Amino acid sequence: MFGNSREIRTAQTGPHDKLIALVARHREQAYQKPIAPWNLDAFDQAMAKWGGSTPLILDAGCGVGWSSLALAEQFPDHFVMGVDQSEERLGRGKPQRVPGNLVFARADLVDFWRLLWQHRIRLARHYVLYPNPWPKIGQLARRWHGHAVFPVIPKLGGVFECRSNWRTYIEELAIGFGVLTGTPPSVEDWLPTQALTPFERKYMASGQALYRLCLTLPGEAP
Ligand SMILES: C[S@@+](CC[C@H](N)C(=O)[O-])C[C@H]1O[C@@H](n2cnc3c(N)ncnc32)[C@H](O)[C@@H]1O
Repeated sequence: MFGNSREIRTAQTGPHDKLIALVARHREQAYQKPIAPWNLDAFDQAMAKWGGSTPLILDAGCGVGWSSLALAEQFPDHFVMGVDQSEERLGRGKPQRVPGNLVFARADLVDFWRLLWQHRIRLARHYVLYPNPWPKIGQLARRWHGHAVFPVIPKLGGVFECRSNWRTYIEELAIGFGVLTGTPPSVEDWLPTQALTPFERKYMASGQALYRLCLTLPGEAP
């Protein structure tokens, strides 16, 4: 497995031709799906652990949580929430103890993001590292920028960073932010010297090209 990860295979050759219309539609219609009780419980527990007195970092889709641990160490005066829906991944052994400025939460981000917004919580930093690419043409709505929750993300504010091994994903994300904020950010080649996550490590070991999007999000009052 390690070192021979396959590059993305897809019939899609560039940003999806339905993307702009889809993001614009989601911008006009707030996502109405009720919040699931298990996500609310996870959110409440994470909030209680944080306490609200330090700047907040969200590691969205943290997987096994290596990046959350590294971020908690890199930003000792911040509090990090590592959120993932997979109990199995979150539960895997950690290379170091979980520090006091980090909590892991098992939750669906679709609800967790909306709860942050509903509680008027602003992020200092927001990481979406190697999200599932859903590369088939018919899977646009499963990518975060094609999901109805996407318009909530800029409202949370903070320095946002997404990394992927699929350039089209990052290009689409940039276009999606452009629809919502008026200014599409630039896509960067990403050449890490040290892997921040297991997926990054796997792609680096396979010699794959990596891409990144970084921008400061406006954050809006509800
Ligand atoms: C490709 S993995 C990347 C994990 C980690 N960031 C890394 O780079 O190693 C994507 C992660 O997103 C999580 N995920 C996908 N959809 C999610 C959702 N709706 N809510 C929470 N986590 C989700 C998956 O469980 C998985 O751990």
